[in-house]
Amino acid sequence: MVSFAIVLAAVSYISQAIAAPSYVAHPERTAAVKEVFQHAWDGYYTYAFPNDTLRPISESYENDRNGWGASAVDALSTALVMGNQEVVDQILEFIPTINFDLTAPGREAVSVFETTIRYLGGLLSAYDLLTGPLSEYGQGHEAVKALLDQATHLADILSDSFDTPSGIPRNTLFVTPSGTRPSDDETNGIATIGTLILEWTRLSDLTGDPKYHELVQKAEDYLLSPLNPELGEPFPGLIGTNLNVTDGLFVDSSGGWNGGTDSFYEYLIKMYLYDSEKYKFYLERWITAIDSSIEYLTSHPTSRPDITFLAAYRGANDLNFVSTHLACFDGGNFILGGLTLDRKDYIEYGLELVNGCHETYLATETQIGPEVFRWQDSKLPPNASNNQPPPAEWADFYEDAGFWIQWSSYVLRPEVIESYYYAYRATGDTTYQDWAWDAFVAINATTRAGVGYSSVSDVNAPGGGEKTDFQESFFFAEVLKYSYLIQAEEAPWQVSADHDNRFVYNTEAHPLRAKGNPI
Ligand SMILES: *[C@@H]1O[C@H](CO)[C@@H](O)[C@H](O)[C@H]1NC(C)=O
Ligand SMILES: *[C@@H]1O[C@H](CO)[C@@H](O)[C@H](O)[C@H]1NC(C)=O
Ligand SMILES: *[C@@H]1O[C@H](CO)[C@@H](O)[C@H](O)[C@H]1NC(C)=O
Ligand SMILES: *[C@@H]1O[C@H](CO)[C@@H](O)[C@H](O)[C@H]1NC(C)=O
Repeated sequence: MVSFAIVLAAVSYISQAIAAPSYVAHPERTAAVKEVFQHAWDGYYTYAFPNDTLRPISESYENDRNGWGASAVDALSTALVMGNQEVVDQILEFIPTINFDLTAPGREAVSVFETTIRYLGGLLSAYDLLTGPLSEYGQGHEAVKALLDQATHLADILSDSFDTPSGIPRNTLFVTPSGTRPSDDETNGIATIGTLILEWTRLSDLTGDPKYHELVQKAEDYLLSPLNPELGEPFPGLIGTNLNVTDGLFVDSSGGWNGGTDSFYEYLIKMYLYDSEKYKFYLERWITAIDSSIEYLTSHPTSRPDITFLAAYRGANDLNFVSTHLACFDGGNFILGGLTLDRKDYIEYGLELVNGCHETYLATETQIGPEVFRWQDSKLPPNASNNQPPPAEWADFYEDAGFWIQWSSYVLRPEVIESYYYAYRATGDTTYQDWAWDAFVAINATTRAGVGYSSVSDVNAPGGGEKTDFQESFFFAEVLKYSYLIQAEEAPWQVSADHDNRFVYNTEAHPLRAKGNPI
């Protein structure tokens, strides 16, 4: 209940003024985040580089992202905003040596989405920072130009995946020594289709070659204006998950804000921030989706009516009271849009969502939230087939917490801290800095293991249960960047509350330079 009072306080603050709150920097906290970054990097650089991912317990590596050095590329924009010249140098030396024509043995299947958000986003962000406000870190490096050349070459390779009757890409493309080969995927999802538009548009704007933008825009059009809305758009602006790459029709009506759909909605408002002249229709679609989410998906748990979560859906008449760590970016996205539009109601609603995700951290043994959680909705009858009470072993936990855990792992995900960051930038309320710091301390205490940081199996067991020996590249790109920025000094890449955003963050937390100031 304490935290509910805090949110109400933040809300009343907001209703007085949206623009330009004052911020506090915490040098001792940013120093601690830098120490964690260095430790994670040293483990990776010693035991895994130039492979993709560190296995910190076994002191080995995995090429889960095709063997192009995913952690190095993902770490670069964070090393830059932290001002870590030594790590910037190590990564910049590596960039020109990446051979995107060749995958690691057995790793020919390339995800167009993952490659776009991690590699293309990482390269373009570093290019924007090094040709912009952080040019001093790139001096004498051939690699600054190589960042853009490599990004362009990578996009040229990935372009083959758009060669379908509809123009919707297949998410899987095989990159082999004899060239690329399409997969036989018949469908693709709205997150994997709709989370290319920012990176590929930026590439077109940087190179002056419109073809990258045109490819992804053609695919995005099927999401912005569904051809079969009777199936594909169960609520206004809220769409299904998968589309047929042959005819461009939706094949289901399921969706919400979880993995598989999440960053499609995220990028609608971010495209408007990127270029508010060109992407007004994206803004309209975002507003429609947000209004429907508030009207149809808002849910409060029976045991904790003070908490707000967003339900998922399987068609308009079947809500599914489940949410995820991934979905916890939603509060931050509502807030970003609220700031952009001067919509206090969206900011207040976003702060409620942020509070809900904070509760998932507060309730567990490790003070870290779980991968998947459920609750019983307070509006629907408690015996409805989609609204069952918790399993008996979770009854007590649910009574206090307002959710129960369906999948208990934590894989070094950023979304809860990401939303604290937007909440703080919108309000200047230092409560959100403290929440981010508490989460960071808990993550450091629970996941620091072996020569780096490891995913854990159970956030509600002492020590997080088993260490599952995997340090995801987004720990560098996202967790450590948002943990740092929320405590850091003002800078041109900090999110602004007063319509002056010079950068837009891709879904992997790589800041890309906005085309003009929005509004
Ligand atoms: C992975 O690391 C090993 C050991 O350093 C090295 O021999 C190998 O070439 C690397 N593979 C890739 C794909 O980077
Ligand atoms: C996709 O559309 C094509 C052409 O209409 C059809 O033959 C195929 O069965 C569809 N596949 C799926 C998975 O819906
Ligand atoms: C749920 O409970 C109500 C009230 O007891 C009852 O009328 C209804 O038939 C029940 N519905 C189901 C699906 O069991
Ligand atoms: C992170 O963990 C290390 C090792 O346990 C510890 O020395 C350091 O103080 C921790 N940092 C924070 C901010 O808790």
